[in-house]
Amino acid sequence: MLKGKKIVLGITGSIAAYKSCLLIRHLIKSGAEVQVVITPSGKEFITPLTLSTLTHKPVISEFFNQRDGMWHSHVDIGLWADAMLIAPATASTIGKMAHGIADNMLITTYLSMKAPVFIAPAMDLDMYAHTSTQDNLRLLQSRGTHIIEPGYGHLASDLEGKGRMEEPENIVLQLQEYFARRDGSMRGQRVMITAGPTYERIDPVRFIGNYSSGKMGISLAKACANEGSQVELILGPSSQPLPSSSLIKVTRVESAQEMYQAAMQIYPTCDAGIMCAAVADFKPADTTDHKIKREGTKAMTLNLVPTQDIAAAVGQIKTTSQKLCGFALETHDALEHAKDKLKRKNLDMIVMNSLQDPGAGFQVDTNKVTLITPDTITTLPLMQKNEVAKEIVRAMFKHP
Ligand code: CTP
Repeated sequence: MLKGKKIVLGITGSIAAYKSCLLIRHLIKSGAEVQVVITPSGKEFITPLTLSTLTHKPVISEFFNQRDGMWHSHVDIGLWADAMLIAPATASTIGKMAHGIADNMLITTYLSMKAPVFIAPAMDLDMYAHTSTQDNLRLLQSRGTHIIEPGYGHLASDLEGKGRMEEPENIVLQLQEYFARRDGSMRGQRVMITAGPTYERIDPVRFIGNYSSGKMGISLAKACANEGSQVELILGPSSQPLPSSSLIKVTRVESAQEMYQAAMQIYPTCDAGIMCAAVADFKPADTTDHKIKREGTKAMTLNLVPTQDIAAAVGQIKTTSQKLCGFALETHDALEHAKDKLKRKNLDMIVMNSLQDPGAGFQVDTNKVTLITPDTITTLPLMQKNEVAKEIVRAMFKHP
């Protein structure tokens, strides 16, 4: 969502200015173009040479170019930008912004800015907590400035840990989310995703599970959030790092039964569902509260009963305005079985992968899938799961 976006990065005189390098790297990695505007005191903390090397653009600091006397037009920069981000933003800069004190190139640029403005405050806690700073922040917020702080967004009454600049990675994430919500092709849509394995409890220390990592489902959640949709991720026991996005709500579950209950409750509130979880098909008929002892047990048989077919149950309650996509992991006669599941579970699309394909399936970062709808069969090449996720979402929601 930051691809091709033009970002004016304002840097001011705070020790956190050293983090600007990382911030620029993250922005450029996300596809953004970065123009740095730095205050005179910002230059005391980080050199323009470092910054221009990273952005591949001369850094703007003065009203005139020192070398050839060329006028730096703050009005042109204001028109060029898709967003202005001031990080770190000192108490002094925040004050000047609030009161229109245009005594440097950064503030004049801010006053000419046509694009949304984001600031990441950075100062010590006393300065941050001062009524003057708080009033200025409130004033800026009431005018539509986005304030990026550790712990997400809004001004909290609890000042603990505040004043510290939010980590560059999270700053970029919040910019991405802003553009996803505003411009994403799936904005306003709610998507439910089931992901990961399920664990079916035998006793307090043992379970029946499977090798699913949850990677594919988490990639799908990110792909949907990147397009601005609100994601309800129902996640089984996965050790993958959770996506930190305000567009992704995670519900943790353990067993097929818990996943079933969550899905049946959440799906009616959604526009679409993607059933990516590797749900256990059977669970022990009985569980015990105590650990089953080895001593004295010569052989044992576990009595298993079927779990709920969550995809099929969701397919039953699906309305004509809702979409549903399932997965089919097959080892033989893949196409035939997958087509049968598409019909049987009332799905609009099924993503088939075969364990016979190297690089497909559990625990790996790649996948090779075939997308099957009632009328089409599309086989995709071996790709990273993130890319596969984008293709699935594109095919399902038919955006370019
Ligand atoms: N699925 C589900 N609940 C289950 C079993 C499967 O929601 N109890 C979903 C999976 O998330 C997937 C689809 O159904 O989207 C197909 O899963 P798969 O294991 O391939 O199919 P099964 O119906 O279990 O059929 P089989 O084990 O006979 O291949």
